[in-house]
Amino acid sequence: MRKKIVIANWKMNHDFHETTNFLRNLLKIFLEKKINHNKEIIIAPSFPFLHISNQILQGTTLKVAAQNIHQMDKGSYTGEVSASMLKSIGISKVILGHSERREFFIEKNDILLKKIRIALKYEFHIIFCVGETAFERNQNQQFNIVKNQLKETVFHCSSDEIRFFYIAYEPVWAIGTGKVATYEQAQTMHEFIRSLFLERYGESVSNKISILYGGSVNNLNAKALLLQKDIDGGLVGNSSLKLEKFLEIIQS
Ligand code: 13P
Repeated sequence: MRKKIVIANWKMNHDFHETTNFLRNLLKIFLEKKINHNKEIIIAPSFPFLHISNQILQGTTLKVAAQNIHQMDKGSYTGEVSASMLKSIGISKVILGHSERREFFIEKNDILLKKIRIALKYEFHIIFCVGETAFERNQNQQFNIVKNQLKETVFHCSSDEIRFFYIAYEPVWAIGTGKVATYEQAQTMHEFIRSLFLERYGESVSNKISILYGGSVNNLNAKALLLQKDIDGGLVGNSSLKLEKFLEIIQS
């Protein structure tokens, strides 16, 4: 049985006080066992607050992830952050391939493969995002797009390396739009993604790989999404910013 996972991607939101208050309150609720859940919980705050976030959550089951890393180990890359820097402050999870990185920072599959390589070198767990645009879905290209995104990146890895991955299916048209994929659309794509893992790595890997859905997940739709056979969790943007809503998603 795959454990359900909820990941909060805060994107470029929450300053120092909002971050620390949120995490301290969340932790208090967890320690007082005020909520009932059996999910893996990961929070991805902004770079400046990763260290303090990790310190606040240290020794608990709540984990912290970075939202990005640079593809090079170190050097003259002004403004960038390396995997080894993050590792040195105890971070070992990272989101890669998010559609906002692909779109606004022109991260193509070749760069993403380099990011995967450096992340694996430092033994990061990688939350790797794939998903089609509205235009691509209208052209009925969603399966080809997702297959290609995986073929040119994750599928270069060995089956031994795949244990470091979570896959997140995030249809671009559902991100931040309030337009969630139907349960059927999401389940169909998740089943397809699992079948690609079966084809590439065999049954054991495909049964184990966690495939999360992202795109307008909220406290009202999370339960039904997470009930789908191949949906192992949610990668949540907007609805993870408010503690009450996030707690509802965790408990759904
Ligand atoms: P929303 O939940 O705001 O649609 O964002 C989804 C997302 O991009 C998570 O990575």
